[in-house]
Amino acid sequence: MNRSVVIGAVLVLVAAATAWQLRSPGWGLSEAEVIAAERRGRQVFLSSCAPCHRGESDLPGQDELQSDYSTREIAATLDKPPAGMAVFTGTDAERRDLLVFLNGG
Ligand code: HEC
Repeated sequence: MNRSVVIGAVLVLVAAATAWQLRSPGWGLSEAEVIAAERRGRQVFLSSCAPCHRGESDLPGQDELQSDYSTREIAATLDKPPAGMAVFTGTDAERRDLLVFLNGG
């Protein structure tokens, strides 16, 4: 195999791995696991967050949470909910699925 083909293939792999890292913040999930987690996380969002964060009030709705908040910020909010926000009572798995769904990264 010609050397530039090998270098090209390595660059493509590095780019793909980087894009994947940006999408999935450190949980080491496969693509199929991310899709499944997003599906479950959506249900968690609808039952635990959407009653207040429906995007109609001053509170950020789903789109805003996904685009304007990082995973770290959302996780910190869940750990220390501001006045008026319900304490998240889901399991660790539900919490992770929710963060994957919101995917602020
Ligand atoms: C009982 C209503 C209620 C529920 C349920 C709720 N929140 Fe909140 N949330 C609030 C209120 C009130 C604030 C504070 C808004 C402020 O002070 O500006 C807030 C703030 C936030 C913020 C920070 C917004 C900011 O800019 O500071 C994030 C992120 C957030 N909520 C995410 C969530 C997620 C994710 C869930 C689901 C697990 C959730 N919330 C469930 C009422 C709720």
